Amino acid sequence: MKICITGGAGFIGSHVVRSFVNNYPNYKVFNLDALTYAGNLENLHDIEKEPNYTFLKADIRNQEEISSLFKVHQFDGVIHLAAESHVDRSISNPLAFVETNVLGTVNLLNAFKSVWNNNYEGKRFYHVSTDEVYGTLGEEGLFTEKTAYDPRSPYSASKASSDHFVRAYGETFGLPYVLSNCSNNYGEYHFPEKLIPLFINNIMYGKPLPVYGDGNFTRDWLYVQDHARAIDLIFHKGQNHETYNIGGFNEWKNIDLVRLLCAQMNDKLGREKGESEKLITFVKDRPGHDKRYAIDATKLNKELGWYPSVTFEEGLSKTIDWFLENTQWLENVTSGAYQDYYQKQYQ
Ligand code: NAD
Ligand code: TYD
Repeated sequence: MKICITGGAGFIGSHVVRSFVNNYPNYKVFNLDALTYAGNLENLHDIEKEPNYTFLKADIRNQEEISSLFKVHQFDGVIHLAAESHVDRSISNPLAFVETNVLGTVNLLNAFKSVWNNNYEGKRFYHVSTDEVYGTLGEEGLFTEKTAYDPRSPYSASKASSDHFVRAYGETFGLPYVLSNCSNNYGEYHFPEKLIPLFINNIMYGKPLPVYGDGNFTRDWLYVQDHARAIDLIFHKGQNHETYNIGGFNEWKNIDLVRLLCAQMNDKLGREKGESEKLITFVKDRPGHDKRYAIDATKLNKELGWYPSVTFEEGLSKTIDWFLENTQWLENVTSGAYQDYYQKQYQ
């Protein structure tokens, strides 16, 4: 089986590539990635020489390039993760999100469709999406697979649009797809523009921790390796044309999460109790900031037996340990363009 994993040099994609390369020696695993600011081949240094792994540098916005790669390699399966993924960047540059997340997804669908030309036996297109397409919740309730879409940021609007295109190709052209909507991930190789790795980095270097608004925004956090395990299960065993919600059963208000992170880091860095907490700084809120996300992952649990393998305290502790042991990785990704982004976002 030839599998094309798009966005495999990014945060979640690198975990998916690693698990497929290690668990399926008989598959040929292709990592198709444009290496944007978020893509980093260092994330895959441990598997890059494996005989069943190939890197393809390509941009999903480029229809010709994508079509010709699909013609040459005849991928049986696609696991599509390549995307612009950060809400704050989508607020400063929405069009980049339309181009990669919407146009890029349609380019992949067209390439897959034209290679297999209705002979879809044993083929599968897996689209990886987010719970943010469902919008925002009040104090009660959970997102299920039946919750109506209500995206509220340019990022979630572009992901919602890409989900619609995948389902439309399923209905109109019979393209075999599965789709999943996952909650916030955290873990190793997480790019330090998102809450958890940004704050780990800032605590390490004694920089302010910019908490948006009053900090009373809720997210459901999932350890990235549990997401990668869910993707493997759904790719192999999910029902055709079905959607699966993936979540951590693990809701945290941002401010409580930040306090837990500070406490764990105080212990690990040998700092006084309460020391890192002094870095907490409440800053201007994000425009259109979604109040609460919470996922009901019962369907995935009942149908495929998936459940998160670690508690949040364990996963967070493993994540901090990884960042403390991989300071060179962190230094490499925070040099150059990252500094400009940081200045603009948090000036
Ligand atoms: P990321 O930003 O870390 O990585 C994205 C990857 O896509 C990078 O390697 C980048 O180089 C590549 N890429 C971007 N534009 C490209 C283009 N035009 N052509 C080819 N490659 C391109 O993202 P992530 O956090 O790993 O998210 C991966 C996927 O999972 C995304 O589709 C995202 O919407 C979804 N998702 C993420 C989360 C989360 O918490 N991070 C949660 C649910 C769903
Ligand atoms: P983020 O990691 O950007 O993920 P998402 O917006 O996709 O959920 O943000 C998680 C939460 O943390 C969200 O409520 C916004 C908040 N946040 C801050 O308070 N400060 C920050 O510097 C960042 C990046 C996020």
